[in-house]
Amino acid sequence: MSLNARRALLKFLAASPVLAGLKASHVFADERALASAAEALDVFDLEAAAKRLVPPAHWGYLQSGVDGETTLRANQAAFSRYQLRARRFVDVSRVDLATQVLGTRLASPVMFCPIGSLRALHPEGEIAVARAAREKSALLMVSTGASFPIEDITAARGAPVWFQLYTTNRFEATKKLVKRAESAGCPVVLVTVDTPAGRNTVTALRMRRQDTRNCSACHTVDERGNPRLNLAAKPMFAGIDTKGLAYTLPSMTWDFIKRLKDITTMKVVIKGIEAREDAALAVEHGADGILVSNHGGRALESGRGTLESLPDVVAGAAGRIPVMMDGGVRRGTDVYKALALGASAVGIGRPYAWGLAAFGQAGAERVLEILNLELRLAMVGCGARSIAEVLPTTLIDTGARYTS
Ligand SMILES: Cc1cc2nc3c(=O)[nH]c(=O)nc-3n(C[C@H](O)[C@H](O)[C@H](O)COP(=O)(O)O)c2cc1C
Repeated sequence: MSLNARRALLKFLAASPVLAGLKASHVFADERALASAAEALDVFDLEAAAKRLVPPAHWGYLQSGVDGETTLRANQAAFSRYQLRARRFVDVSRVDLATQVLGTRLASPVMFCPIGSLRALHPEGEIAVARAAREKSALLMVSTGASFPIEDITAARGAPVWFQLYTTNRFEATKKLVKRAESAGCPVVLVTVDTPAGRNTVTALRMRRQDTRNCSACHTVDERGNPRLNLAAKPMFAGIDTKGLAYTLPSMTWDFIKRLKDITTMKVVIKGIEAREDAALAVEHGADGILVSNHGGRALESGRGTLESLPDVVAGAAGRIPVMMDGGVRRGTDVYKALALGASAVGIGRPYAWGLAAFGQAGAERVLEILNLELRLAMVGCGARSIAEVLPTTLIDTGARYTS
């Protein structure tokens, strides 16, 4: 599509009622317009496309880190610390990305991480993502804060999904969430433990102020106009008394893992482990797996990039349970590096949300296509014909991060 045709399309879109209320400067902010998801060459093309469509408050929700966002930046920068060490004369005419984690077969090690309220980015939200996951045989983790019922998301995926659990401050309520996920066929529950007592999402709050829309139709708002978390509106909380209920339990300790294991047949993965000691404790307390994560730089400020936490955690787990990771993955080479450092599978958050916001199901699918293509090429270059052949000897730790 020519630049003029693109401009004409954007003008048309800008006049459409769908985008009414968005500032023109928002719509025309970037000339990297895409006519279709297929045009995206890397995930950043989809980020640019999404940014033009998503209202400021929701964009802030998606992009925000905490405080000054050094952890958020560290997640991506950590990948530049490692270089690939190419190997030659390996027959790479067939390269297989398939793998398996905790009994779930994946066409590629790239997984969709849980993101709450995806309908804030696209009307089809989690359903569109589930369809993309079905199309690409990808693993989907569904948030406690999903905007559609887990049963509908599972049906759209056409296979079991993994359920992400926010523990809540009342065990009875937590138990209902867990039992519902179990009945929906989830084989794995991921307990998120990285945000036990609040966080300071400065960018999200700042961008909320730039948004002139009235949010009270969809959100209850506090006295300053900031949206309030309304658990009663979340499908997962249907039938649960949400009065006085909070998302997290600041007093939670390791006993919780045993309590959880006692009430469910699902495998328990702890999402948000970053240190070797905690990895060893997770094994001791019966966890079936670990997802190394700092919530995409949305929890603790001034933390390590998750890729740098990964070897620490892998050492603590000592091969006893699988270790996965997420945070800052934007390239197939990032996926490769995480695998080479011991991850069994690698999660993405924002990139598929960009694809979803820009093009719905097709956008989320395109993100997987791009990352899988890039991963395949990294494997070819390093002589790995299968995920098992992605070896630590093909990585060089330079000890330094590069910012460009
Ligand atoms: C907008 C947004 C919402 C999120 N919601 C959840 C959630 O509900 N539960 C959860 O465990 N993690 C949540 N996460 C964290 C992701 O699961 C994942 O750990 C993170 O996005 C990975 O980093 P990346 O965005 O750099 O790929 C969220 C992340 C974002 C960006």
